Amino acid sequence: MMYDIRQDDCVRFLRSLDDESVDVIVTDPAYSGMNQHMQFGHGRIVGRYRDNRGDGRWFSEFHDDPESYRVFLAECHRVLRDRRHIYIMFDSFSLLSLGAVVREVFDVKNVLVWDKVNLGMGHYFRRRHEHVLFATKGHRKLSRRDLPDVWAIKRLTRAPYPTQKPVALFERMLAGSSEPGFTVCDPFVGSGSAAIAALRSGCGFVGADIASRAVEMARMRCATFAAHGIDPLEPAGDGGLPG
Ligand SMILES: C[S@@+](CC[C@H](N)C(=O)[O-])C[C@H]1O[C@@H](n2cnc3c(N)ncnc32)[C@H](O)[C@@H]1O
Repeated sequence: MMYDIRQDDCVRFLRSLDDESVDVIVTDPAYSGMNQHMQFGHGRIVGRYRDNRGDGRWFSEFHDDPESYRVFLAECHRVLRDRRHIYIMFDSFSLLSLGAVVREVFDVKNVLVWDKVNLGMGHYFRRRHEHVLFATKGHRKLSRRDLPDVWAIKRLTRAPYPTQKPVALFERMLAGSSEPGFTVCDPFVGSGSAAIAALRSGCGFVGADIASRAVEMARMRCATFAAHGIDPLEPAGDGGLPG
């Protein structure tokens, strides 16, 4: 299948796409709210988000105040075909501040939970989950009836790209929402996990990231997968369903 990965800002990228030209949107935005909660005292980004080779940051965050977020969602709505699905990932804090904005634009059907199985960081309760909002444009059922709303999929440790998500997570999104030949879109492509899920599901893919390192990684990853059927960034990924 075809894939197209561009280096661009999410809104500029979406504006370059025709009306009703993609079939599923699956995306994992870089929320600035999330990183604010990860700063310790001096406004530093710490841990694996820090890149000592460059300007100290792996990537800049999307400005996710409600106004910018409305513009982003309006573009998602315009490019998505009618009677189609969208999945948007949220950490708990961005879900509180921006989740309601999604309901202004799309018909939200589920707040899904990604159970990462292993404990993460956290000053109080240790974080083990994220959310995925599942919504529709127009009416469309899921093509399967056996999909639960909690997804236990182990988080990746020591992945090559910071914030790299398991391909299985995006495969779960596509399981009831894609058909072979559909075009899947991710405007925050990162290392291209959603692209690999799309290709594995027999779909085409179009996506973008503002960071050149992400785009290089995602393109290399898709080229290797297309040539050899191997995902070089997550060779053991199996995408097991459901549960
Ligand atoms: C959470 S990461 C996505 C990770 C991806 N799902 C994966 O599995 O590798 C978010 C990405 O958004 C990108 N980004 C930040 N601001 C952006 C913007 N304005 N437009 C497009 N991409 C942006 C970052 O460079 C980062 O790669």
